[in-house]
Amino acid sequence: MAQSTHPRRFAGQTAIVTGASRGIGYAVARRLVDEGAKVVITARKQEPLDDAVQRLGGHDVALAVAGRGDDPDHQSDAVARAIDTFGSADLLVNNTGINPVYGPLMQMDPDAARKIMDVNVISALRWTQAVHSAWQADHGGAIVNIASIAGLRPAPNIAFYGVSKAAVIHLTEELAWELGPGVRVNAVAPAVVKTRFATALYEGREEQVAEAYPLKRLGEPEDIGSVVAFLLSADSGWMTGQTVVVDGGVLLGGGV
Ligand SMILES: NC(=O)c1ccc[n+]([C@@H]2O[C@H](COP(=O)([O-])OP(=O)(O)OC[C@H]3O[C@@H](n4cnc5c(N)ncnc54)[C@H](OP(=O)(O)O)[C@@H]3O)[C@@H](O)[C@H]2O)c1
Repeated sequence: MAQSTHPRRFAGQTAIVTGASRGIGYAVARRLVDEGAKVVITARKQEPLDDAVQRLGGHDVALAVAGRGDDPDHQSDAVARAIDTFGSADLLVNNTGINPVYGPLMQMDPDAARKIMDVNVISALRWTQAVHSAWQADHGGAIVNIASIAGLRPAPNIAFYGVSKAAVIHLTEELAWELGPGVRVNAVAPAVVKTRFATALYEGREEQVAEAYPLKRLGEPEDIGSVVAFLLSADSGWMTGQTVVVDGGVLLGGGV
């Protein structure tokens, strides 16, 4: 395997990254392992998770725990296994997020809205509670929540998803107040990143979509992984409660 050229900011630390068999979660796990961390990765399907563990470098550095992100038993199991296997649970990345519906709010099914809140918001709180009570309350640590620019300005047709991400941003601020000084809590808000989740937003018209971005390209999962690593590391040691926009400049708007 090629030697990583990254600094080893996470040597001796363990990170739990939810929803990490592919996409942004995998890129975060990849970056953390490259910088010396052990990672516990979660997702619903076992096989892609096992494959991700292999790609990350095998069982010495990564552990797969399959389950639904909003299942409290799965949450406590993953935290317990992180501590049993790697000796700590210093870092948490609440990455799992869903958006099962597309269309106007006036046609929004309330059950779908509840499910979105459960997976995107309540689960981030519950994962935080589980990691905090099992490890971070006594030892400190850092948390990053994956929000979205959809939580910062209206996002027609994915509006309730945006509502849930606005809640993630506020949850980040409240947790930062409550968990300081031992635990820092920050968030990132990406624009369109090329993953399976976002395919419908750019497939077949990537160049056209990218035209609205000052940097003239859509995001790659690694663009988010590097910022999450910064927010988990001592390099951001005087930051908490912040949401860092990672968007190729698209929120600047402008143009004539
Ligand atoms: N891609 C974008 O443009 C974009 C922009 C802004 C924010 N985000 C946010 O970034 C995060 C990651 O998205 P992504 O684009 O990387 O998605 P992705 O490539 O589709 O990956 C999603 C990951 O989460 C797992 N997952 C999905 N639902 C789950 C559930 N209910 N419980 C447990 N694991 C689950 C998936 O594995 P299984 O299917 O096996 O469960 C997979 O590992 C989400 O919070 C999303 O809202 C994405």
